[in-house]
Amino acid sequence: MVMDQYTKLGSVFTISLFRVNITFLIGPEVSGHFYSGLDSEVSHNMMDFSVAMIGKEVGYALDATLRNEQQRFFSDALKPSKLRSHIGPMLHEVESYFAKWGQQGTVDLKHEFERLLVLISARCLIGKEVREKADDDFVTLFDELIENGVNLTSVLFPYAPTLANFRRDRARVKLVETLTEIVRSRKSSNQVERSSNQDEKDVLQKRIDCKYRDGRPTTESEVIGLITAFLLAGKHTSSTTSTWTGAHLLSNRMWLLAAIQEQKEIVRKHGYCVDYNVLQEMDILYCCIKEALRMHPSLVVNSRKVLKNFTVRCKEGVEYEIPKGHTIVSPILFNSNLPYIYKKPGMYDPDRFGPGREEDKLGGKFSYQAFGGGRHSCTGEAYAYMQIKVIWSHLLRNFELKLESPFPNTN
Ligand code: HEM
Repeated sequence: MVMDQYTKLGSVFTISLFRVNITFLIGPEVSGHFYSGLDSEVSHNMMDFSVAMIGKEVGYALDATLRNEQQRFFSDALKPSKLRSHIGPMLHEVESYFAKWGQQGTVDLKHEFERLLVLISARCLIGKEVREKADDDFVTLFDELIENGVNLTSVLFPYAPTLANFRRDRARVKLVETLTEIVRSRKSSNQVERSSNQDEKDVLQKRIDCKYRDGRPTTESEVIGLITAFLLAGKHTSSTTSTWTGAHLLSNRMWLLAAIQEQKEIVRKHGYCVDYNVLQEMDILYCCIKEALRMHPSLVVNSRKVLKNFTVRCKEGVEYEIPKGHTIVSPILFNSNLPYIYKKPGMYDPDRFGPGREEDKLGGKFSYQAFGGGRHSCTGEAYAYMQIKVIWSHLLRNFELKLESPFPNTN
């Protein structure tokens, strides 16, 4: 449908669905206001499904000012200065997880990454107590929350009496019980786990101690909501991206060999130690992940509500006014496959981001949209690359992998 309308009408067009005017903005030239407009002019839209998953106390249930304050609690743990401290625990989780694989066998990579990333997120983003509680039951509950909370019907009708919504709510209640127990026991014990930087409080204590600008401390439900949101953000998108990276590498010998060779050279130079600086040298692996994400963005379609009219100018120079009340849509998957930006977009070609080509910059700053952009771009991008690189560098160094199943379909 998007392709038909784009071919017929160009980069800006409106369709009417159940009396809602939905305007599609195709391509980086017309994406600026979508991503960088003020919250008072374009607001987040269709995010009720996330409210059903993380609760009414945090995130998209709140007005933009309060939500942005809560983003501050997030961004602290993800600042470049803090990223280094996550590497040690990340490596520990990855090494002990894959140590269980043994010498040979067949695994379901998607399933393995889903489990591993809950453990990494719990350890790095929340703290030791949550990680210790992250047993099989906890991970299964988390999977149920996501699987039943993020599917087409739950996204469109998050409160309809469907089986998926019932399962999502049941999983959420049990997760909240576990997390509440942890937070209460930490509060009553008054014991603060020290982070790897001994002068700092650990992440769980920081979540508990978060305060709004007016000095108001966060409530218990807000802390639980933030923890759940953190776990969701840390886990879901990175596990799908790790899986797609694997599917492409294992079905593309040239890139698999290039990524293995890069690891060999890095080991020759630095030994087996992996730290923040070593991760920064994994350029081929970085491009392989970035290309997998271009072809399989975690957020396929992004949307906002227009609160104040604005104008866009398409690449042919024509201007369109988008009226207040419209829903605007940035179809990330479609935008990631525009042939005037990405040469042969259907081909897995990590080189397209390398020196001399840099197709992700061809159309300006909104050419590559997998992490959003502008005002609400992903705060976890650097952290996500870090954890996916830690996982894949470990696999490439220690295992000989072969894809047994056919190349997966997008579900
Ligand atoms: C491959 C991994 C990831 C992908 C593809 C991804 C994708 C995105 C996208 C597309 C947005 C923009 C949403 C919008 O425009 O409305 C976003 C926002 C956000 N992401 Fe990520 N994300 C990833 C990993 C993470 C991680 C690991 C974290 C934190 C632990 C995180 C935290 C956030 C937050 C807090 C926002 C909201 C920013 C705001 O509204 O100001 N993300 N992400």
